[in-house]
Amino acid sequence: MIGRWMPRLRQPEREGVPWGQACGFMCGIVGYAGREQAVPVLLDGLRRLEYRGYDSAGTAVCNGAGIQVRKGGGRLERLESLVREQPTPGHTGIGHTRWATHGPPSDDNAHPHLDCTGRVAVVHNGIIENYMALREELAARGHRFRSETDTEVLPHLIEELYRGDLLEAVRQAVRRLRGSWAIAVLHASEPDRVVVARKDSPMVVGIAEGANLVASDIPALLPYTRFVYVLDDHELASVTAGGVTIEDEAGRPVGKAPLFVDWDAAAAEKAGYAHFMLKEIHEQPRAVRDTLAGKLDMDAGRVVLAGAAFSAEEARSLRKIDVLGMGTARHAGLVGKPVLERFTRVPVEVDLAAEFRYRDPLVDEGTLAVVISQSGETADTLAAMREARARGARIVGITNVMGSSLAREAGRVIYTLAGPEVAVASTKAYVTQLVAQYLLAAHLGQERETLSRDEVGRWVEQLARLPGLVEDALVLEDDMRDLAEGLAACEHTFFIGRGLDWATALEGALKLKEISYIHAEAYAAGELKHGTLALITEGTPVVALATQRSLIDKVLSNIKEVKARGARVLALAAPQAREVAEAADTTIWLPDAPDLLMPVLAAVPLQLLAYYTACLRGCDVDKPRNLAKSVTVE
Ligand code: G6P
Repeated sequence: MIGRWMPRLRQPEREGVPWGQACGFMCGIVGYAGREQAVPVLLDGLRRLEYRGYDSAGTAVCNGAGIQVRKGGGRLERLESLVREQPTPGHTGIGHTRWATHGPPSDDNAHPHLDCTGRVAVVHNGIIENYMALREELAARGHRFRSETDTEVLPHLIEELYRGDLLEAVRQAVRRLRGSWAIAVLHASEPDRVVVARKDSPMVVGIAEGANLVASDIPALLPYTRFVYVLDDHELASVTAGGVTIEDEAGRPVGKAPLFVDWDAAAAEKAGYAHFMLKEIHEQPRAVRDTLAGKLDMDAGRVVLAGAAFSAEEARSLRKIDVLGMGTARHAGLVGKPVLERFTRVPVEVDLAAEFRYRDPLVDEGTLAVVISQSGETADTLAAMREARARGARIVGITNVMGSSLAREAGRVIYTLAGPEVAVASTKAYVTQLVAQYLLAAHLGQERETLSRDEVGRWVEQLARLPGLVEDALVLEDDMRDLAEGLAACEHTFFIGRGLDWATALEGALKLKEISYIHAEAYAAGELKHGTLALITEGTPVVALATQRSLIDKVLSNIKEVKARGARVLALAAPQAREVAEAADTTIWLPDAPDLLMPVLAAVPLQLLAYYTACLRGCDVDKPRNLAKSVTVE
C-alpha cells in the first residue's frame, strides 16, 4: 500500500487500544450502592467525567424516606451547592451530567427524571427514538410530564410496570424502546438497589470493597476499583452493596468475568485512545446514526425535520440560499452547496460569516440563511446570522450544542448529534454537518417538489446506509497510519479535487495544517495550471481526490499534470475509478457510495492521515498551537 508514495520516516507507534466499539457519548452516568454516603461518590465521579463536556447535572439518592433529587442546568458547582444547601443523605444513588439532545439545558430537562409518584428516578444516555409515541400514550393514561426530554418516558413506563421487582420492571420497559440507551434506575421501595440496562450506549459495573458502582465511562470508577463488568447490548444488571447480578432482556442470567482496567486516568478519559481526536474519529458511525435518527421515514420515503420543517408553500417561496460559517463549518457548507442546488434548484452561496457580515449582502425575504456552527457560539457566525435576519432572511441553524446562542436565536434548528467534541480539530462535528445538510436539502426538495417521490425515497435509503459506510471507511486506518510516514517529513503539500472533491480537499488540507503544522493547500484541480503548478517540484506530495464519477477523467489528467512535474501522488478514489491507480503512486479505495455521499467517506481517511502525521511529528494533536475550539470574539 505504501508504494512509491514517500520514504518511511520511522516506525509508527501503535497509538492506544480502543475500548469496545463505542465511548461515553452524549452524557455521563454514575451510580453507587454501598455503605458510604452516596453523594460525595457521585459528585466525585461526575467531576471525573467533566472533560467530556456537559450543560447540566443532577443526582438522586434513595433512603428509607424515599428518593431525593437535586439537579439543575449549568456547571457542577451549582449541583454541589444545591446538595450542600439541602443535603440528601443515603447510601444508594445515581448521578448524571447531561449534554442536551432533546430540550435545551434547563433545570427541568436535567436528569434524573421522576415518575408521577416521585418513587422512580432514571438517568439516561442515548436517544429514545419512539419517545413521542410513548409520551402520547402515557399522557393519555394520565401521566404528567415535566420536561421536554425523551428520557422522561422511562420513569413513567417503569411506574406502570412495577410489581415489586425493579429489575423486572426495567426489563419490560426497555422492551418498549427503540433507539439507544444506557440507563440507571432507582425505586424508593428498593432503597439499596441500582438497576442498569444498555443498548448501543456504554455501561460498566465496578466491583469495590463494600460497594458496587455503575458508570457510563471508566474514569468515574477508577478511584474506587479497577475491576469492571462491561455490559453488552440488551443486558441488565442489578447492583447492591452486597452483589451484582447480570441478566439478558429475557431474564436469563449472564455469566461474565470481570475485566481488570490498567489504564491511567488520562487514558481512561479517552476510552483508551491516545487522543480525543482519534476517539472522536472513531465515534463517527455513531454520530452519523444519531444525527439521522428519527429524521428518515423509511416507510413513507420522506425526510422529517421536526425542528426545522418547511411547509410546501414556504419552501417554494425561497429564491436564494446563503450558507454561513467559519473554518470547518464553512467547508461543510461548501459540500452542502451543490447538494442544496441539485435538490432544490435554488441558487446557493457559501460565505465566510466574517466576510458576509461586512459586505452589505444581498438578502431579502426570499433568502434562507443556513448557519452552521459546531459550538453555536462563534462570534462572526452569530453576527452574520443576525445580519441576515435583520434583512428579512429565514434562518436554519445547524449546531451541535443545544441551548447555544445559535440554537436559541435561529428559530429552526437541525442538531448534529455528534456528542461533545473535545479535540480542537473538528471531525465528527464536520461529518454530521454534512449529514444535516443532506437532510435539509432533501426536505426542501421534497416540499418544493424539485425532487420526485422516488428520488426522495432512494435518497432516504442511501442515507440510512451511511453509518455502515462510515464504519467501512474506518477500516482504512492502518493504511493511513502507514502513509503518514511518507508525509511527516514534508513541509509543503497540496490537496486537489474537482466538484465536491474540492470542498473535501479544503477540509483535508485544513486538518493536516492545523494539527501537524505542515503547509497544506487545497486547489480546485482545474485551477492548478493557473499558478500552483509552478510550486510542484520533484517529490512534492499531492493528495488527489477522485471520488466523483463524472469528473474522474478530468481529475485523472490533473494527476498526470502534477506527476509530470515530479509530484508524489496519493489518490483517494471511488472503487470504479480504476484508471486512477495507474496514474497515482498510491491509491486508497473508498467504500462504494453515491457521489453526493463521498465527501463523508473521504473525510474519514483524511482525518486519519492528518492525525497520524501529527503524531509522527510529535505535535500536541488535541490542542494545536494558537488555536481554540470556539472563537467567541471577532
Ligand atoms: C474554530 C475551531 C474550528 C471551527 C471554527 C468554527 O476555528 O478551531 O474547528 O471549525 O472555530 O467553529 P464553530 O463552533 O462555529 O463550528
